Amino acid sequence: MNRARVVGTGAAVPKKVLSNADLEKLVETSDEWITTRTGIKERRIVSEGEKFSDLCTKASEIALKRSHVKPEDLDMILVGTISSDMLFPATSCLVQHNLGATKAAASDVSAACVGFLYGLHLADGLIQSNKAENVLVVGGEILSRFVDWTDRSTCVLFGDGAGAVVLQATKGDHGILGSRMKSNGAYADFICMPGGGSNRPANDPTQVEEKLPYIKMKGNETFKVAVKAMADVTSELLNEQGFTHEQIDLFIPHQANERIINAVGEKLKIAPSKVYKNIERYGNTSAASIPIALDECAREGRIRVGNLVLLTAFGAGLVWGSVLLRW
Ligand code: ACO
Repeated sequence: MNRARVVGTGAAVPKKVLSNADLEKLVETSDEWITTRTGIKERRIVSEGEKFSDLCTKASEIALKRSHVKPEDLDMILVGTISSDMLFPATSCLVQHNLGATKAAASDVSAACVGFLYGLHLADGLIQSNKAENVLVVGGEILSRFVDWTDRSTCVLFGDGAGAVVLQATKGDHGILGSRMKSNGAYADFICMPGGGSNRPANDPTQVEEKLPYIKMKGNETFKVAVKAMADVTSELLNEQGFTHEQIDLFIPHQANERIINAVGEKLKIAPSKVYKNIERYGNTSAASIPIALDECAREGRIRVGNLVLLTAFGAGLVWGSVLLRW
């Protein structure tokens, strides 16, 4: 059986740092509130003219270089995002062109903060079924362009960035061991952007007045569902694959809120030292959070060959899921 193994990682974040102190000047908030409620200290935000597809391309180039896979050997490019350059064409097509990935198919995956994990899940299926040998999976977001900078309940949360991995077919025991993805559209209004789509297109002049093309979130309701959903799907995956929490070497949950990360880790009984966090520096980068964390862990030697790595995420849809891999 073919397995999809990560053979290279990369990440790219904008240079501009937006600190909690900067936000104190924009809305009625405080460093103390943001830190204790979310764990975030600062986030990276794009400057005018910076493009999402360029961030994705940069992260992908680094991942390709580390993997020694040539762009022209890629069979598929999947970009998990809800903030693509344009409604269409897909950002993955722009990345395909930028990289010179001449034979790759390309498609975006819309699963909000779970976009990267959905991408891994789909790429794994392609590799296992011999439909692809080399797949580039990117998770990225520029949510700062859709944030209402007068809404203190959301503007303090999000940051921009992109991360990428190259997956390659192998015959060994290393690679994705299993994955489970879930959805429940009954909670679609928990996190959404009501404007800019075909219901209320961007050419509708009342859009901005009514504050439609902005992120709306029922944070507290989302929080409660998120913890249980991520813990449940992760437990199901571990049981299915025949592993226990003690065997996990590194747990990387989506970086949406430090309290959510801690609660999920506790529910799963994973030792705090094995739970990776970088939310303090990046905020919630949605689909980018897990690949950015994976790249940091790989570069800093926090993941070693043979380690069991567990990933989980939750986001707008609602969607959630979990992926288990042996590095
Ligand atoms: N500064 C100061 N006070 C604030 C701020 C702020 N930035 N934001 C909200 N408050 C106030 C509220 O007005 C409220 O005041 P009140 O009690 O007088 O009404 C109080 O703080 C508590 O508000 P809550 O919303 O109940 O705060 P909570 O503890 O739930 O934290 C948060 C809010 C951080 C948003 C949290 O609910 C959360 O992280 N939710 C989950 C987010 C998530 O996981 N999203 C999924 C991924 S996102 C995606 O898919 C794109």
